Amino acid sequence: ASAGSGNGSCIPAERAALLAFKAAITSDPANLLGSWHGHDCCQWGGVRCHSRTGHVVKLDLHNEFVQEDYASFWFPGNHSLHGQISCSLLALPHLKHLNLSGNMVLGDGRPIPEFMGSLRRLTHLDLSSLNFSGRVPPQLGNLSKLVYLDINCGRTSDMMTYSMDISWLARLPSLKHLDMGGVNLSAAVDWVQTLNKLPNLVVLELNYCGLNDYYSRSTSLLLHNLTLLGELDLSNNHLNSPAVKNWLWGLTSLKSLIIYGAELGGTFPHELGNLTLLQTLDLSFNDIKGMIPASLKKVCNLRYLYLEVNNIDGDISELIQRLPNCSSKNLQVQTLGETNITGTTLQSLVNPSSLNTLELSFNHLRGSVPVEIGTLTNLTNLSLKFNKHTGVISEDHFAGLTNLKEIDLSYNNGLAVIVDSDWEPPFNLQLTRLASCHLGPQFPKWLRSQKGIVLLDISNAGIIDRIPYWFWTTFSDAQFLNVSFTKLVVSCLLIWTSCQWKYFFSSQII
Ligand SMILES: *[C@@H]1O[C@H](CO)[C@@H](O)[C@H](O)[C@H]1NC(C)=O
Ligand SMILES: *[C@@H]1O[C@H](CO)[C@@H](O)[C@H](O)[C@H]1NC(C)=O
Ligand SMILES: *[C@@H]1O[C@H](CO)[C@@H](O)[C@H](O)[C@H]1NC(C)=O
Ligand SMILES: *[C@@H]1O[C@H](CO)[C@@H](O)[C@H](O)[C@H]1NC(C)=O
Ligand SMILES: *[C@@H]1O[C@H](CO)[C@@H](O)[C@H](O)[C@H]1NC(C)=O
Ligand SMILES: *[C@@H]1O[C@H](CO)[C@@H](O)[C@H](O)[C@H]1NC(C)=O
Ligand SMILES: *[C@@H]1O[C@H](CO)[C@@H](O)[C@H](O)[C@H]1NC(C)=O
Ligand SMILES: *[C@@H]1O[C@H](CO)[C@@H](O)[C@H](O)[C@H]1NC(C)=O
Repeated sequence: ASAGSGNGSCIPAERAALLAFKAAITSDPANLLGSWHGHDCCQWGGVRCHSRTGHVVKLDLHNEFVQEDYASFWFPGNHSLHGQISCSLLALPHLKHLNLSGNMVLGDGRPIPEFMGSLRRLTHLDLSSLNFSGRVPPQLGNLSKLVYLDINCGRTSDMMTYSMDISWLARLPSLKHLDMGGVNLSAAVDWVQTLNKLPNLVVLELNYCGLNDYYSRSTSLLLHNLTLLGELDLSNNHLNSPAVKNWLWGLTSLKSLIIYGAELGGTFPHELGNLTLLQTLDLSFNDIKGMIPASLKKVCNLRYLYLEVNNIDGDISELIQRLPNCSSKNLQVQTLGETNITGTTLQSLVNPSSLNTLELSFNHLRGSVPVEIGTLTNLTNLSLKFNKHTGVISEDHFAGLTNLKEIDLSYNNGLAVIVDSDWEPPFNLQLTRLASCHLGPQFPKWLRSQKGIVLLDISNAGIIDRIPYWFWTTFSDAQFLNVSFTKLVVSCLLIWTSCQWKYFFSSQII
């Protein structure tokens, strides 16, 4: 077929361009290019041609194994294409969609090639997790049709790529999705003003960009242009500014606002109540002081609230009264660890039965744990560790907790878990931390049913007993067992060798 012959079969010049691309790839462990042979390049894996003209319009060679590569940190790129990104891509003049993401070694520490800025028809460019470094080419600003741009470098905290001046972004007015996570933008003084020229943005990810707010703070600019923005992530930056009087609170279309670890100070802004569409709010690991604003009550769609490691320094019942309860979709996740909250009970918590995560660790909560906690039927994750709770936890506290997977009641002021010896728990735990709770003196029989336990910490739990015969089989899949400061008599050491425990702490196995 000659150029433009139609029928979606491959155009020879474009086939040649793809073969040149392939020739610059030195290794392809995931066999992404395995089907790149034969005449019709439109049939090759990852290639899509226009059905009428036959021009290549899409090249998607993203690496599915990127998550795995993240996990095996020291062996990045096990599945990645190796080699160079050939500028033969320029001979694909109708290319609209280019995705090379997740090929962790393809960038090989080089800058993003400048020729990318000449792929004029691109609407979708995903170069995330390619291990680029150096300057982001401002030539990308020539891609005036771009709707989607992702140059998140993957291991974001490394900040190997940078852009001193992001004014080129303003030439991409169609952008809806922009992810520059891990690109060092610390020298980009006017980043807020530049972003304000992208009125179509729906998703904006600027996690680990070294952003500082020093330059834009004084203007207290409200981002009136970003009326469609639904997701904003500014985490791990040096905003170093008060949370109040911030342009952020003008972004009333936000559904997700994630700004953890960004050096926000001062108090919580009342304007939070203007963000009525918010479903996710993460202001954790900042330095915000004082009670959450009463206006938060208006944020009816809030499902995920993360505030840990701030200094709320108030009573939990007041806090709970300020949480929204105006819709059927109630809060699912509430993390308030290390927020300096006080209070005598958790009594007021008992309404939101939609909760699946309740994290209140490292606070100053006192008194007994209310039995109503057992009505939180959707709870999977409960942490009350390092508080000052006292009293007894009984079967009734666990009565409705059929979905509980993780519990941490460690290091309170003498919390006791006292249940009948024939009690059958309604849950199947995975992580069980009950350090310094009173469980003894007998070894708790209810643990026998918890065969899915990965981690068990019952150290210093007042147990003085013979290790039950079922201990070794029930916990044979566990990876972490801590029974130190208990007095356990081992009755059969032989079975020990069949276990796969990675960590076993025990000070007094007799
Ligand atoms: C398109 O393909 C059909 C058969 O699949 C063929 O008959 C026709 O000639 C082709 N047209 C062109 C322009 O190549
Ligand atoms: C592309 O962008 C660069 C840098 O922004 C600019 O110097 C150059 O003239 C542009 N090229 C074209 C063909 O527009
Ligand atoms: C980010 O860039 C600034 C200069 O613009 C530089 O001083 C700083 O060291 C860079 N940060 C990292 C983590 O490379
Ligand atoms: C809003 O965006 C337009 C371009 O789309 C720009 O001309 C204008 O200056 C922006 N407004 C503000 C307040 O930045
Ligand atoms: C935002 O909230 C503040 C304080 O709660 C209020 O005065 C202001 O009118 C609100 N703005 C909008 C646009 O709703
Ligand atoms: C907790 O609040 C008290 C005042 O109630 C204050 O003195 C203390 O510094 C706060 N702790 C932290 C870690 O902020
Ligand atoms: C919502 O909270 C208010 C104040 O905390 C309370 O009076 C009201 O009963 C709650 N409404 C629902 C539906 O739970
Ligand atoms: C509990 O979780 C289920 C499944 O996710 C959900 O359908 C149900 O609405 C939740 N219950 C409450 C009270 O939110």
